[in-house]
Amino acid sequence: MTKVLKIDPLNPDEESLKEAVKLLREGEVIVFPTETVYGIGADAYNEEACRKIFEIKGRPSDNPLIVHIGSLSQLKEIADNYEPYMDFLEKFWPGPLTVIFPKKSKKISPVVTAGLPTVAVRMPAHPVAQKLIEMFGHPIAAPSANLSGRPSATNAKHVVEDFMGRVKMILDAGNAPFGLESTIIDLSKDHPVLLRPGPVEVEKLKEIFPELVVPDFVRSGKFSGKPLAPGMKYRHYAPSKPLILVENLEKMEGILRKYPNHIVICVEERKDLYRKKIVVGSLKKPYSIAQNMFAALREAEKTEKEYIIVEGVEERGILFAVMNRLRKAASEIVR
Ligand code: TXA
Ligand code: MG
Repeated sequence: MTKVLKIDPLNPDEESLKEAVKLLREGEVIVFPTETVYGIGADAYNEEACRKIFEIKGRPSDNPLIVHIGSLSQLKEIADNYEPYMDFLEKFWPGPLTVIFPKKSKKISPVVTAGLPTVAVRMPAHPVAQKLIEMFGHPIAAPSANLSGRPSATNAKHVVEDFMGRVKMILDAGNAPFGLESTIIDLSKDHPVLLRPGPVEVEKLKEIFPELVVPDFVRSGKFSGKPLAPGMKYRHYAPSKPLILVENLEKMEGILRKYPNHIVICVEERKDLYRKKIVVGSLKKPYSIAQNMFAALREAEKTEKEYIIVEGVEERGILFAVMNRLRKAASEIVR
């Protein structure tokens, strides 16, 4: 049985959170909102509980989880070598940023980190996530709350689609504000490495870390060789229908003709060009495109159309992250 509890995103009700905390203490798995996407979480210090997350998501056991903390004292418990980066952390935490540090604690099971010597840590800014971690008292290990390989869940309806009957509780706080997963930066190596672009933009990170390495796979979306983040080698974010990403818009007409039974995901500025379409956002408000893209993919797969055609956008700011997700989700990329 899954209990879906509506909760105010700004002033979360303590009684609901108490119920959620009780479940976490019992080693259960619950779904909660964050400012990026919904997370499916368990007690980060309870190996058995964390194992359940992998089972429920159908997640390969070599793909580690992000540990969500509520305070810097929890960072101390689980990570090493973070001291030189305190100014950086204080600037972006709480917020949509995940940092990889050497793992410290025996409290974090190898199940959570997939046996790696490092741990991914994030301090979320969403009031529900913050209050939940604070009341619970332990960090919460949580990947995005979608079945493995599917588009991330940005509202409770998406979570219900993937997990109804499979988790004890879903805290429903409406739409996730960013709608796109956190930026991941690896600070455990000689040079800082960007592992996943996100709401904290690369341009901002480069101001702080001019030597930031942005590997090719982050741009191309496709990976061959030894993955730096284990999750990279899997297809991700993919709807249940073929997704054609058209980066070269001059080729759009040809693609529309090649796949006549289609629905197009496009921006406000170009919507008049298409008949059957979902408008994802406006180029004037790039964050609106990020916010709605996963929801648009899930909406598109529910139509009777056979193909999902998505317009590519310019890889700047937050749209760099949007293109990273679309390239991973695409079954065909038109350049
Ligand atoms: O916004 C977010 O980050 C959301 C919310 C719920 O916080 N979480 C999220 O988790 O997107 P997930 O599991 O979908 O993506 C985490 C990524 C995976 O690609 C995983 O491989 C990588 O982080 N990762 C986790 N631990 C790592 C580590 N120690 N080293 C390198 N990559 C790691
Ligand atoms: Mg995910």
